[in-house]
Amino acid sequence: MRILSGIKPTGTLHLGNYFGMMRQCIDMQKKGETYLFIADYHALTQPSDPGVLKQNVFQVAVDFIACGLDTEKTVFFKQTDVPEVTELTWILSCLTPVSLLERCHSYKDKIAKNVTPNNGLFTYPVLMASDILIYKSNVVPVGKDQKQHLEVTRDIAQFFNNKYGDLLILPKEMIQEDLAIVTGLDGRKMSKSYDNTIEIFGDKKKIRKKFMKIVTDSTPVEESKNPDTCNVFALYKLFANDSEVETMRERYRAGGMGYGHAKQELFELCWEYFRPMRDKRAELLKNPGTVHEILNRGARVARNTARTTMDEVKHAAGLS
Ligand code: ADP
Ligand code: TRP
Repeated sequence: MRILSGIKPTGTLHLGNYFGMMRQCIDMQKKGETYLFIADYHALTQPSDPGVLKQNVFQVAVDFIACGLDTEKTVFFKQTDVPEVTELTWILSCLTPVSLLERCHSYKDKIAKNVTPNNGLFTYPVLMASDILIYKSNVVPVGKDQKQHLEVTRDIAQFFNNKYGDLLILPKEMIQEDLAIVTGLDGRKMSKSYDNTIEIFGDKKKIRKKFMKIVTDSTPVEESKNPDTCNVFALYKLFANDSEVETMRERYRAGGMGYGHAKQELFELCWEYFRPMRDKRAELLKNPGTVHEILNRGARVARNTARTTMDEVKHAAGLS
């Protein structure tokens, strides 16, 4: 079974990205042969500065490896290192009805936000289908927002198979339904667009300061507090084990503990949690060549697989 997923290089990673997405990608390595790539072609569908994009791609690679990606097991690579994927995109584009793409929520959402769409944004799902189909992937772990893109991928694969013979595999999405939304400093979903994030890596003082900014109510120190409506407690649960969570819950209820204190403890826990990953990251940053070597190695394997599929596809379509 081949598992594949792609991540967009979106800049500094925060706790929401880690618990919502990275951990799932890292866990999936145990379940089968895994391909994971950085979707840098997809990043171009949004306004992007070349220097920033390059930096973000490197950043996301370093952070993933630091957070536990086993690059011996997982084929980890950059989308642009396999140009065959754009070749397949063209062939699939010629089988994809415009009306199918017009129905995509991600596209309609952007239009609703008054984004002037470029053709890349419109055909985003065809490139994504190509990413998946070129590696004959069976399972694709994604967030709920990507479910429709997987449906489109299966439709496109079926159009291809109907016309040219059963060559492409129809993939299944893997969506973790119980995946909790990580809340940000203000209690809304943690997101760069709300400016309420806590970064995974960075300067200790700056990160501590972020924790101190978590919004709480104004219950006085001595009074009993409700852990279940508290933004600090919500984050505490991500890091603490069951017995630590229970103890903290009782301390909230008992009164006598200020929010400042709870924030400090949360910060300490988070800082310790990411310590081994921070150390690994510092090592990698000292040797950026290692990161490039890992991506190049991944690209060689991925490209081999992609070329085999492209040969079959071109032959089937009368292009060889
Ligand atoms: P942002 O909202 O900060 O721009 P992205 O949209 O780049 O984050 O998210 C990248 C990945 O991280 C997606 O798979 C998304 O589902 C996951 N993710 C982002 N924020 C959260 C969050 N607060 N809780 C859970 N998962 C999240
Ligand atoms: N569209 C995905 C996202 O926004 C990223 C992505 C691109 C992807 N190609 C993919 C995910 C292929 C899974 C498989 O998160």
